[in-house]
Amino acid sequence: TTERTLVLVKPDGVARGLTGQVLARIEAKGYRLVELKLVHAERALLERHYEEHRGKPFFGPLVEFMLSGPVVAAVVEGHRVIEGFRSLAGSTEPTTAAPGTIRGDLGRDWGEQVQQNIVHGSDSPESAEREIGIWFG
Ligand code: CMP
Repeated sequence: TTERTLVLVKPDGVARGLTGQVLARIEAKGYRLVELKLVHAERALLERHYEEHRGKPFFGPLVEFMLSGPVVAAVVEGHRVIEGFRSLAGSTEPTTAAPGTIRGDLGRDWGEQVQQNIVHGSDSPESAEREIGIWFG
């Protein structure tokens, strides 16, 4: 079955000029962009997006980081794209993410409170539906 997932190029990725490389990897893999925009997210939107992390020590710094600059939001479509994009992205920590992945090739630890890991991808069909609703109504 064809799925949709929400992909974000986070402020670190946009600021470092990596948006094109991220989108190129998605397209090269054979997935399709169905929505795409550059946005300065609002705090309330980010708090909804990250509500599962509310109460964790990195929640506040995470929201501040996501407010620090524009993000690129995309809806990406394809068979098993939710799992497929997470595989392209690599594991959360860029220091140890596998080379060949977006985070493994392009990310590093900058010694900040929050993992600046370039991209976000929905982790399940339920999250994807919820997050696409938040970012694209
Ligand atoms: P993401 O998977 O998009 O959603 C939660 C984000 O919080 C994650 O990417 C990282 O940017 C950040 N994050 C997750 N775990 C930690 C952690 N233990 N310490 C700092 N930041 C984290």
